[in-house]
Amino acid sequence: MNLHQTVAREAEAAFEQAGIAGAPVVLQPAKNAEFGDFQINGVMGAAKQAKQNPRELAQKVAAALAGNAVIESAEVAGPGFINLRLKPEFLAQHIQTALTDPRLGVAETANKKTVVIDYSSPNLAKEMHVGHLRSSIIGDSISRVLEFMGNRVIRQNHVGDWGTQFGMLVAYLVEQQKDDAAFKLADLEQFYRNAKVRFDEDPAFADTAREYVVKLQGGDETVSALWKQFVEISLSHAQAVYDTLGLKLTPEDVAGESKYNDDLQAVVNNLVKQGIAVEDDGAKVVFLDDFKNKEGEPSAFIVQKKGGGFLYASTDLACLRYRVDKLNADRLLYVVDHRQALHFQQLFVTARKAGYLPARVEAEFIGFGTMMGKDGKPFKTRSGDTVKLVDLLEESKRKAEAVIKEKNPKWQLTDELEKGLELISSLTNSENLKNKLKYNSESKNIEITLENNFTYHLPINQIDKIIKGSEEYTDSALGYIDEISTAVGIGAVKYADLSKNRTSDYVFDWDAMLSFEGNTAPYLQYAYTRVQSVFKKANDWAPNAPLTLSEPLEKQLALELLKFEDVLNSVADTAYPHYLAAYLYQVATLFSRFYEACPILKAEGQARNTRLQLAKLTGDILKQGLDLLGIDTLDVM
Ligand code: ARG
Repeated sequence: MNLHQTVAREAEAAFEQAGIAGAPVVLQPAKNAEFGDFQINGVMGAAKQAKQNPRELAQKVAAALAGNAVIESAEVAGPGFINLRLKPEFLAQHIQTALTDPRLGVAETANKKTVVIDYSSPNLAKEMHVGHLRSSIIGDSISRVLEFMGNRVIRQNHVGDWGTQFGMLVAYLVEQQKDDAAFKLADLEQFYRNAKVRFDEDPAFADTAREYVVKLQGGDETVSALWKQFVEISLSHAQAVYDTLGLKLTPEDVAGESKYNDDLQAVVNNLVKQGIAVEDDGAKVVFLDDFKNKEGEPSAFIVQKKGGGFLYASTDLACLRYRVDKLNADRLLYVVDHRQALHFQQLFVTARKAGYLPARVEAEFIGFGTMMGKDGKPFKTRSGDTVKLVDLLEESKRKAEAVIKEKNPKWQLTDELEKGLELISSLTNSENLKNKLKYNSESKNIEITLENNFTYHLPINQIDKIIKGSEEYTDSALGYIDEISTAVGIGAVKYADLSKNRTSDYVFDWDAMLSFEGNTAPYLQYAYTRVQSVFKKANDWAPNAPLTLSEPLEKQLALELLKFEDVLNSVADTAYPHYLAAYLYQVATLFSRFYEACPILKAEGQARNTRLQLAKLTGDILKQGLDLLGIDTLDVM
């Protein structure tokens, strides 16, 4: 339900009754639950306008709100604030509705749009770096939320697959292609560096490279095929990162710079014809009065270089036109590093002037800050190299595994068990199995002698567990630990990013993001498993029965759960996923307070059922909410 709007309507009706119809009610969630659930802050402004005493006017509004089906109490405070408390019956009824709704009570937006969202968009001549990690994570979450709210979302991965450096890369590929190209490109960064060295040291190589650029642009088949091969291998690297991250981006979403080639000259000609671009020292430039530089001169948006070459700007203009005309976008989002803010401002203004971006289409630059290391400098490896994303994500999984094993001894035997299993299965094929296994009755270990004469001691009771798959381990400690480490390790990286206001820089800190305390993925994932563990023991309850909310923490939790739609709407409107993260953290924290204060399984009758219902909706919202951030939940961890 749209809780905010529902309460705001009541406030508006009361304003009308108090004789100030139409004045903004300025409704806000209460800062402190002690004072109420919401606060109306609009009376003071209205009083000033109407030249009335604000407290008296507030009294009138409060009186008009009393006895209403939504509001339990309305109290005037300070100079004319009104603190509202909602009726428990009203909350209970909507919780019940949410419980029976697969969308958890969240309605799709009334104003559905076709949203084209540009995210990830790495340059293929290089290994993807952390800047693209942020774009990928943030863009994926925004696109999930928009989709969930009923919009038509078109993902576009605007990869950098064009430009002069590709001549050099193709030339190097040819030179190297005695072996498998995929093998040569296993380390893209290295490949790029080697190519650059060849380019700089050997003029003949550099000539070939330049020749290839011309051929590529001229559509030469052989060179184009090589370029394509390079692009495909490079894209497969990116896709591997997407898959590890669990992103919704697929190969079908790739629409790289090269896609717009044939349209670039047409766009520039059109801009010149409209008098928007002018010739300046051989180049074609759009001068924008809207952004003046330090010297007070209009900023220059170069759309064609002297000599005819095209640039990033030319491609983006053609691309924007395509997204509006061919993809029928109502809203364009570009999730890109904030250092490109000016480029996008210039792009949007130019496109508006040129009529490519009609007023009905919104265009937004969704900028984000830099990912920093703990040393406060942009995130790098110890040796100062850029960090490879695959390595970073692998490391995160390993660290998560260690943290989980430390926290929960249940998983600690897994390594042992896994090794034992591996050994046994490798030995079952072995002829002299018997010679290799020896039972030591004193230590109760089975001793397995390996090739290198190293003896492995496997406690007999563990063998028993492996073979029988005893209760404790059927949760499949074997293999499952991998699932947990992935969910937690990847979830932690994503959540660390998404939980912060994207416009600021943030420090990448494994210890902080993998902590089970505070606003982290593991904390939320753990809260979810706690809810699930309640339901393992809770048989016999009625998920759809009416609820009775009596304890303050029951009401508070219910109120929070009903704000889910409000929060998703604000994420969809503003493209700030941290609102959702903050909300989920609030839900988890409130749940934990509720859990302490209001025993669930030990309670009886109506109280027990109500609490189970609240727990159920909490779990469902945590799961759905985390999924919208692109984070997996686990039933056990
Ligand atoms: N490839 C660019 C980069 O890595 C980002 C592209 C963003 N999207 C766009 N339409 N310009 O910096």
